[in-house]
Amino acid sequence: MNIILLGPPGAGKGTQAKLLVDAHGMIQLSTGDMLREARTSGTAMGQKVAAIMDAGELVTDEIVIGLIEEKLAGDNGGGFIFDGFPRTLPQADALGELLAKSNKTLDSVVEMQVDDEALVRRITGRYTCGNCGAGYHDDFKKPKVEGTCDDCGEQQMKRRADDNEESLKTRLMEYYKKTSPLIGYYYAKEQLASVNGLGSMEEVSSEINAALKV
Ligand code: AP5
Repeated sequence: MNIILLGPPGAGKGTQAKLLVDAHGMIQLSTGDMLREARTSGTAMGQKVAAIMDAGELVTDEIVIGLIEEKLAGDNGGGFIFDGFPRTLPQADALGELLAKSNKTLDSVVEMQVDDEALVRRITGRYTCGNCGAGYHDDFKKPKVEGTCDDCGEQQMKRRADDNEESLKTRLMEYYKKTSPLIGYYYAKEQLASVNGLGSMEEVSSEINAALKV
């Protein structure tokens, strides 16, 4: 099964993608994670990407489509979760073409609905373990021992450079201008399922599993 998790910054796409990976062995393809990896490469492209991401703007379609194309070859049969991709209509068209070229289909697009007030709270409270990537939140998911990762025991907590109110304003505007038209795009293709992303992580997960019938 190949699915898209669609939603504004902080909707919980990454959180739910990880739960789907654990439960169903799917592969998470997060363009945000891929770009964060690219920016640490020290190349000119990495530096350009870093400036765009920190400002909260979208990286060019060409770059992200290229990243996805490379990863689609690594299919393990469990299917892909597209997390943060596509984000524009040209990206959605390109994904359709790439899937068709490799005889794959898109099974469902899950739109996660969360209001702006909750998004701001989720984003500004988020941090991760710099060693293993485990995610935490000031209010919703604290580690058992403050500052120490539950999973790997390291003390390397960090916050994303774009998780501040100023960048978040731009990220939300980018979402409403360029990404939200995808809701109508996939609705018209009868591939859209909308879930309430405001419940607990477990409640949202149950809604997604019900929408996907898994
Ligand atoms: P990306 O990394 O994709 O960021 P985003 O879309 O802004 O999404 P986030 O990762 O911020 O949020 P999320 O929905 O995954 O929420 P999470 O699960 O972490 O993109 C970053 C940048 O890269 C973009 O701005 C752009 O520059 C560039 N980029 C990426 N893809 C691109 C593309 N395709 N085209 C062009 N540019 C691209 O949850 C957030 C917090 O809330 C966490 O702390 C979590 O613990 C908590 N939480 C989650 N669910 C719940 C819940 N149910 N209840 C309470 N708390 C919850």
